[in-house]
Amino acid sequence: MTDEVVKQRKIEHVKLALEQDVSAPQQASWSDIRLVHQALPEVDLDDIDISTSFLGHRLRYPLFISSLTGGHPDITHINRNLARAAEEYGLALGVGSQRAAIVNPDVAGSFAVTREMAPSAFLLANVGAPQLIPQERHAPFTLEQVERAVQMIGANALAVHLNSLQEAAQPEGDRRALGEQKALAALVSQLHVPVVAKETGAGICREQALLLRSCGVAAIDVGGAGGSSMSALEAARSQLRGDQQTQAIGQLYRDWGIPTPIAVVEAHVADLPLIATGGVRTGLDVARALALGATLVGLGFPFLKAASESYEKVCELLERITRELKVAMQLSGAATSAQMRSVDVVVLGETREWLMLRGFEEDLKAMARRRWQRMHG
Ligand SMILES: Cc1cc2nc3c(=O)[nH]c(=O)nc-3n(C[C@H](O)[C@H](O)[C@H](O)COP(=O)(O)O)c2cc1C
Repeated sequence: MTDEVVKQRKIEHVKLALEQDVSAPQQASWSDIRLVHQALPEVDLDDIDISTSFLGHRLRYPLFISSLTGGHPDITHINRNLARAAEEYGLALGVGSQRAAIVNPDVAGSFAVTREMAPSAFLLANVGAPQLIPQERHAPFTLEQVERAVQMIGANALAVHLNSLQEAAQPEGDRRALGEQKALAALVSQLHVPVVAKETGAGICREQALLLRSCGVAAIDVGGAGGSSMSALEAARSQLRGDQQTQAIGQLYRDWGIPTPIAVVEAHVADLPLIATGGVRTGLDVARALALGATLVGLGFPFLKAASESYEKVCELLERITRELKVAMQLSGAATSAQMRSVDVVVLGETREWLMLRGFEEDLKAMARRRWQRMHG
């Protein structure tokens, strides 16, 4: 695949995500997650501390600006606006796949702008697991190339994205996946920064979370279904290209995957810091994800949209999410992010059905009775 195809893909992704609806029709079912109201919360709204720790860093917000873009000069402003906000608010920020800049250093500036604008923020570099193994059309990245991606933005950690579905729905996608696990483990053992395994909309189940832990990853972004669908995004690109086969795959699998709240509960067994990304749209969703056990909560599309407009829009989004989050925290009786992870939470509906069948009955009961257990335990 030529450098030009990779570069062009980056701009198409952003344009299509902004112009068309590429969300999964079946939503992430955050409404199945009910926080138990505390009528006498004994917490002042203005005193709530939402800071958190992630991989040894103190962050002022439990939010992750999900890995989105870079790789074309015309989208540099998006990363610039996001990075400005990450610095101002003390947030973790991911860049999009750096493959474009690894194969074509001319576009490195669209990624490097994040460190320029955010000298002290927690930044995550990004490469794809399929690019760590030999593919039909290209050799795997070398350790030196991955290190270059990390250095490009002075990253604190590397996100390795897991996107088999996206590759299957991409006209020029990398179809091989055999050997990714070994390649990931080898990378983790050689790289000088921690590695975060990151799904991109299809979620992580319990068994895969344990597998990822055995590879040595430091954290997992469960990247669940119910928000932006990379499958839908690729279907839209395929349509532009007149590739009916991949368009049909992308449309058929638009809803594939493990919804984000379920993925958080499933991946919790790995006992690693978790990022909950996928369909998070309000501060109440953020609170629900924290209550289920997430350390950080990621938002993709909402930040993409805001940052494509202006830095001020990114700030407005952050202020709204924070306001909403703090209300949920107060009403759940949590004064800190850590306390939010130990409030009572009742899981209902299809989310409950899934988790019961998958053997999480005791976990669900324990989550619903945390306070009671503390009082009587
Ligand atoms: C336009 C676009 C580009 C994306 N590019 C990447 C990428 O390069 N690497 C990655 O790990 N995730 C990528 N993602 C996935 C996001 O990081 C995130 O997992 C996804 O958007 C789900 O979150 P949301 O529902 O809040 O949008 C992309 C998402 C969108 C919408």
